[in-house]
Amino acid sequence: MNKIQKLQTIQTPIACLTAYTYPIAKILDKHCDVILVGDSLGMAIYGMENTLNVTVQMMIDHGRAVTRAAKKALIVIDIPYGSFEKSPTQALETAQKIMKETSCDAVKIETSKETIATVKFLVNQGIPVMGHIGLLPQKVMEMGGYKYQGRDKNSAEEILQIAKDLERSGAFATVIEGVPASLADQITQAIKIPTIGIGASVDCSGQVLVIDDVLGLNQEFKPRFVKNYSDLTYEIEQTVRKFCDDVKQKKFPSKEHMI
Ligand code: KIV
Repeated sequence: MNKIQKLQTIQTPIACLTAYTYPIAKILDKHCDVILVGDSLGMAIYGMENTLNVTVQMMIDHGRAVTRAAKKALIVIDIPYGSFEKSPTQALETAQKIMKETSCDAVKIETSKETIATVKFLVNQGIPVMGHIGLLPQKVMEMGGYKYQGRDKNSAEEILQIAKDLERSGAFATVIEGVPASLADQITQAIKIPTIGIGASVDCSGQVLVIDDVLGLNQEFKPRFVKNYSDLTYEIEQTVRKFCDDVKQKKFPSKEHMI
């Protein structure tokens, strides 16, 4: 049984976090079922305003760091904005490059009506694809900001339809982001592939969060669905302050650190 088949048999909720670096991926691999090298790295690592300027090369560089560290978890890498929308062939070239150069297990595509055919094409070419529906960060301009989707009947029906089309196209799972819990539940019940929620519902097949949010490293943007499990910003600041004080007071290095 490969990692994807295994994921589809997990009975307990699927735990997924993002990772972009070797040391973090090494820790996550001990606990997470899925590690996502998300294009959220544009903001988390590079301080970008959104994900639109993330490049395929960035995804490959961070993807490699993560696959070097993590051996157990299923590793999924985002296909970034501007590298797949032109045609299914463009998407295939990008997906193959990412998979070949990182040895990841699968790619994730933010999925709309327009890109369903691309998902089907990739799956038919042997690329394992995870969908991403609801709030699509790569469409932040079109959506007028990071707004919950599927709040009215028409938009809810459209998202449900995309979920069904994704399953039919052969996607092995889908992220559901930023939709009412009732819609996320309806989707989870309507399709057989796992749903991984973020700002969705506790009854999705699993949950995903951005690691920097979980660790309390993101000081700038805190959507309602984020939970800080620690305050590493505070911890790091205290640590750095102690080091700087020691240096100023010539307490470091002490004898044990010198030969
Ligand atoms: O880019 C990302 O990290 C994501 C998750 C938030 C689902 O797509």
